[in-house]
Amino acid sequence: MKEKIAKIISDKIEDLSYEQVMELLEQPPKPELGDYAFPCFRLAKTMRKAPQMIAEDICSQIEKPDYIDRIETQGAYINFFTLKDAFAKEVIDRAIEDTYGSFDTGNGKTICIDYSSPNVAKNFHVGHLRTTVIGNSLYKIYSKLGYHVERINHLGDWGTQFGKLIVAYKNWGDENLVKEKGIEELMRLYVLFHSEAEKNPDLEDEARAWFHKMETGDEEALEIWKWFFDISLEEFKRTYKLMNVEFDHYTGESFYRDKTESVVNELTEHGLLQDSDGAKIVDLSEYDMAPCLILKNDGSSIYATRDIAAVEYRKKTYNFTKCLYVTGQEQKLHFAQVFKVMELLGYEWAKDSLIHIPYGLVSLGGEKLSTRDGNVIYAEDILKEAISKIKEIINEKNPDLSEEEKEEASRIVGVGAVVFNDLYNQRIKDVSFKWEHITSFEGETGPYVQYTYARCSSILRNVNDFVLTKDIDYSILTDQSSVELLKEINRFPSVIVEAADRYEPSVIARYAVDLAQAFNRFYTDNRIAVDDKNVRDSRCVVTSITRRILKDSLDLLGIGCVERM
Ligand code: ARG
Repeated sequence: MKEKIAKIISDKIEDLSYEQVMELLEQPPKPELGDYAFPCFRLAKTMRKAPQMIAEDICSQIEKPDYIDRIETQGAYINFFTLKDAFAKEVIDRAIEDTYGSFDTGNGKTICIDYSSPNVAKNFHVGHLRTTVIGNSLYKIYSKLGYHVERINHLGDWGTQFGKLIVAYKNWGDENLVKEKGIEELMRLYVLFHSEAEKNPDLEDEARAWFHKMETGDEEALEIWKWFFDISLEEFKRTYKLMNVEFDHYTGESFYRDKTESVVNELTEHGLLQDSDGAKIVDLSEYDMAPCLILKNDGSSIYATRDIAAVEYRKKTYNFTKCLYVTGQEQKLHFAQVFKVMELLGYEWAKDSLIHIPYGLVSLGGEKLSTRDGNVIYAEDILKEAISKIKEIINEKNPDLSEEEKEEASRIVGVGAVVFNDLYNQRIKDVSFKWEHITSFEGETGPYVQYTYARCSSILRNVNDFVLTKDIDYSILTDQSSVELLKEINRFPSVIVEAADRYEPSVIARYAVDLAQAFNRFYTDNRIAVDDKNVRDSRCVVTSITRRILKDSLDLLGIGCVERM
C-alpha cells in the first residue's frame, strides 16, 4: 500500500522520484494522522511555496483510489487513511507466506563475522557474552537476507601470556588441580606469576623464553600450551551449548602463527615497515593514528600482526564481501590501524569491506552477581543463575508442567532473558544488569515476548478447528487494536533490513516488544475463541501470524521459545 501511495504522489510531483517519495513517506505515530503521511517541507525550496500550500495543492489533485478511505492535509503533511479491510487483506496476503521477512539481497555473497573470541586460560566473562550474542544475532539477520555467513571464533590463544602461564605452572602448578578446576586454576596461576615476577624479575625473561619456544615449535612448550587450550575450549563450548551458539571455524590467533612472516615481508616490500627502538612499526601519523606495532623488539609478532594475516587469509579463503568484527569499543583504535594498514598495502576493498562493530560495557550497577572467587564473573554462572531464577517463577506460575517441560522452559527462557537484555539497548550503549528487570515477565524483556508467544500458542491450541487461510472476513479486523497489530505485522520485513544496515540487533528486540504489546492489546480488546466462526477465524489467523513473527524475531536474536511456560 505504501508503494501504491508513493506512486500516486510521485506522479503528481515532478521534482521527486518514486524512490525519494518512498523514503519520505512516513507511518504516523497516531491513528488520527492517518496510516501514511507525506511531509512537504522538502518541496518548499524548489516549488517556492509554503509547505502547507503545497500539501493542499497536491492533495486536491489526487484522485482517491478505492483502497483509500480519505485523504486530508494537516499542516505540511498529506495524510492518507486507508480502508481498514483493504489494509488488513493486503498485510495478511503477504505475512501469511512462509517466506515473509526473507530476502535474497545477499544473493549467496559471503559475510565473515568474527565474534565471541574469548581468551584461552581466561574466563569467558560478561563482555564476551555481549560479542557472542551480537555476533550470533548478526549471523541470523544476514542469513535471513540471503547472505552466506562464515562464523569465526578468533580465540585469543597465542602470545607472551602463555609463556608466563607455562612458567607459573612449572613452578607452582599442580596437574590435578588444573584438571579439576580448569580455567579458574589457570587464572590463579597467571595472577600468581605477576605477583612473583614483581619480586623476581628474572621470571619475565623465563616467560619470554618459553613463548619463544612455542613460536619455534618446541614440543614440550606446545604440549603444555595445547593442554591449556583444550581445557579452555571445553569450558567455552559448555557456555556456547547453553546459549545454542555455534561456529564454523575456531581459527584463533595461533592459527596465524605461520602466516605472520609473509605479512612482515609484504609490509617490507611496500616500504611500510619502520624501525622504532628495535621494534617494527607502520607509521600512521599521517592519518592521526598511533603507529601500528608489527614486531616487538624481541622479534615476536603481536595481536595486530596476526589480525593482518587473518584478513588476508579470510579474503583468500572465503572471498567475503564484508568482514565484521564484534568487540568492545576499547579496540576501536586497533581495528582502525589494521584496516588502514590493509589499505596502505593496496587492497582497495579494505575501505568498505572491513567493519568494526563496537559495543558498550556491561555495567553491573552495584548488583550482586554470584562469583566464583569474589570478583571474576563468568558468563556461564550468570546464565545458570538466570535459569534457576526463571525456574522458580515457572514453578509458581505453571505448576502443572512436567518436570521435563519445566527444565526445558527454564533453560530457554532463562538464557533468553539474559540475551534479550544484552540486545535490547543500542549496542554502543552500556548495558546495565538488573536481575529483577531481566527475569521479569512484564516490561521490555525476553520473558515477556516469550510469554506472549506461549499465549498465542495456547489460544490456537484451544481452538480445535483452526486453519491458516487467507479466506477470512477482513472487515472483522478493522477495529483500532486489530489495525495497530496489523501495522506491526506489516513492519517486520523493513525492521530486518534496518537491523542489518545498522548492524543493530536492538532494532529487532524493540520490534519484538512492540509486536508483543500490540498483540496483548488486541487480545484484551477482542475475544478470540468466540462462537461466531467468521470472527473466530479472522482473529485466529492474525494470532497465528503474530505467533510466527514473534518466533522469527526471537530466532533472529538467537533466542528460542516454548509452547508453555
Ligand atoms: N580475544 C580478543 C578479546 O578478548 C577479541 C578478538 C577479536 N577479534 C579479532 N580478530 N581481533 O578481546
